[in-house]
Amino acid sequence: MSTAQSCPLPTVSLSKYLEEEGQNKNAESQLLKSSLPAENDCHTQAEDPVSDVPKYLLELGLTPECKQLISSLPAEKGWVANLLHQYQGFWHTTRQLQAVLTCQNHFQAQETDILLVTTPKSGTTWLKAIVFALMNRVKYPNTDNNHPLLSENPHILVPFLEYGLYIDSQVPNFTTFTSPRLFATHLPLVSLPESAKNSSCKLVYLCRNPKDTFVSLWHFTNKLRTKDMGSNSLEETFDKFTRGVSLYGPFWDHVLGYWKESLENPERVLFLKYEEMKEQPKLQLMKLAQFLGCPFSNEEETRGAVDGIQKLCSFENLSNLEVNKTGKLASGEEYKAFFRRGEVGDAKNHLTPQMIEKLDQITEQKLHGYGLKF
Ligand code: A3P
Repeated sequence: MSTAQSCPLPTVSLSKYLEEEGQNKNAESQLLKSSLPAENDCHTQAEDPVSDVPKYLLELGLTPECKQLISSLPAEKGWVANLLHQYQGFWHTTRQLQAVLTCQNHFQAQETDILLVTTPKSGTTWLKAIVFALMNRVKYPNTDNNHPLLSENPHILVPFLEYGLYIDSQVPNFTTFTSPRLFATHLPLVSLPESAKNSSCKLVYLCRNPKDTFVSLWHFTNKLRTKDMGSNSLEETFDKFTRGVSLYGPFWDHVLGYWKESLENPERVLFLKYEEMKEQPKLQLMKLAQFLGCPFSNEEETRGAVDGIQKLCSFENLSNLEVNKTGKLASGEEYKAFFRRGEVGDAKNHLTPQMIEKLDQITEQKLHGYGLKF
């Protein structure tokens, strides 16, 4: 497998960051301290001593391996959590980095596994719903009634490897999974667990144009910030995004890694675009089914199976379900935060012409030479 290249980025060292930010001011500093090596931290630590802080912001239970690694990595101030660390060329929060390492060390891919891969805010929730419905259509043919997606959020039905399964455990319970196992990940190609790189499991990569991805990420991360933290300005986060300093960023390197891989190994990696899924959902659904080895039969097409899945997984349908309006992940994120507008081109309602030009320029520089356009 080829590896992604990373942008040269201006970074600060962890100690310099701490010096500049101070350590004892407020709740943010408590979180920051929790990310630092401490004698009594252990990987099994479960309870949160700072109870008013959402779980996704906690940085407890780091292994000695993770602590040591963090002290050697470039760090920047995060969008929601205190810090982002640059590992293998990509940026991770402290909590997430621990899970990435655990996943890399322990995940054993099977040849029949299917991995759904995205950068955050590229339509992960949608892709999870579609592929779940597609792969389980024999078991759940009725998309109007008693379908799991009507009562459960897609992030529960298709868990993230590093966020969900390996965030609290080195040995997740895989006994409830039947073959083919469906997982999701935001990991860049270079950081996939070796077993996934070396097996013939299939990867479905969904990307989205960087302008809408950035705007969606800006909204989402502001929703995750606590009242005390206030919102991040568009300008500040834009600067970070363009420098590559965003969750699992640099965005362009992430996309490029999988794009190149999809060209080299088209039977292994299917590269999809959010915009094309919005424009021709039926066509993309059929392409997906074909790639995953379960094409729709003529009989299925005639009785409207493709349309049924498309409708079930539409933004309008999923975002209006009770479960998605009221539920939240065990880590604290509300399901409704994953559904905002679900449109193509919303960036123009938020970004200045100069911002749009800058993102277009970076995209041109980084991707067009490889034949990838947005
Ligand atoms: P917007 O913020 O632009 O509305 P992710 O699932 O990767 O976190 O991405 C979230 C983005 O996908 C959000 O974009 C969200 O509204 C959109 N989205 C969620 N479900 C969708 C669906 N069923 N169809 C289309 N877009 C969807």
